[in-house]
Amino acid sequence: MKATAQAHSNIALTKYWGKRDKKWMLPNNGSTSMTLDKFYTQTTVEFDEKYGTDEIILNGEKMAADSKEGKEIREHLDLIREMAGISTKTKVSSNNNFPTAAGLASSASGLAALSMAGAKAAGLNLDKKELSILSRRGSGSASRSIEGGFVQWLRGEDSEGKDSFAEQILKPEAWSEFRMIVNIVGTQQKKWKSRAGMAQTVATCPYYPMWKETAQNDSEQMTEFIKQKDFTKVGELAEFNALKMHATMITTQPMILYWQPTTVEIMHNIALWREEGLESYFTMDAGPQVKVMCLAKDESELIKRLHEIKGIQKIEVCKPGPAAKIIEEHLF
Ligand code: DP6
Repeated sequence: MKATAQAHSNIALTKYWGKRDKKWMLPNNGSTSMTLDKFYTQTTVEFDEKYGTDEIILNGEKMAADSKEGKEIREHLDLIREMAGISTKTKVSSNNNFPTAAGLASSASGLAALSMAGAKAAGLNLDKKELSILSRRGSGSASRSIEGGFVQWLRGEDSEGKDSFAEQILKPEAWSEFRMIVNIVGTQQKKWKSRAGMAQTVATCPYYPMWKETAQNDSEQMTEFIKQKDFTKVGELAEFNALKMHATMITTQPMILYWQPTTVEIMHNIALWREEGLESYFTMDAGPQVKVMCLAKDESELIKRLHEIKGIQKIEVCKPGPAAKIIEEHLF
């Protein structure tokens, strides 16, 4: 009853921001993403009668029983137990190979790895669609980390989310020239968690109706542009969609402002370099990090220029990454 999974994080090309149902974790709109080759979570789950309570270890540290994250993980384990018809307690150990909760989608890879390892350890035999749905119930963006390459998470219509899961648009090797350059601007834990932040946006932002009207269409269009491997269209729409999402964040009451001065500096530079003929686009999520999209041919020139921006602490180049998988090396 022990299993280990590895799931890679993903960066949304068209974003998910706002739920239509909190219990079932259903989004107001579909979204699209690229799974990253470089950043992943490995999670081992063991169900055993020897555990009196759920024991959760994150990056080597035991989680306090009353912490918010601990509660969310336990609730997800309850869901898996309910599906498997068991009540056995667990030990969970999970490691990220990147900073937690700094806008690098650790909840996406974390909940996808937990779902895959947990389902296997509980004796459930779930296919990719069912794993995506289970992951979604832990964290919306995690639904997109079960598949590799380029992915779309369908909004769906069903009130319990039976048709709201993610599927692959393109395999990683089908567009291997695509690059996502992650510029680390700050690694402090974020002030505004996505879950609470998006609920606050839905409740108070006067521009949220604009988002709701356009975001679904953005995702459908993005899926087509990805299929066509049209880099210019993908980049332009990704950048525009990210700016629209941040416009709703900034105009939430109280404001949700993830950008740091270096975030804005990178945005200005990307636009300027593009005018000079160096084609790249930016996107940002719930943190100050800027992810720059380009094609392989422009990677080294862009990295050279990005290295000259003082506020960037680290630059990581990602390619389209693989699907989540079960691995044999357990963490305990
Ligand atoms: C800005 O998936 O972390 O990264 O479903 O409440 O767990 P919950 O939120 P989460 O939100 C991700 C928000 C985003 C955009 C995106 O990845 O689509």
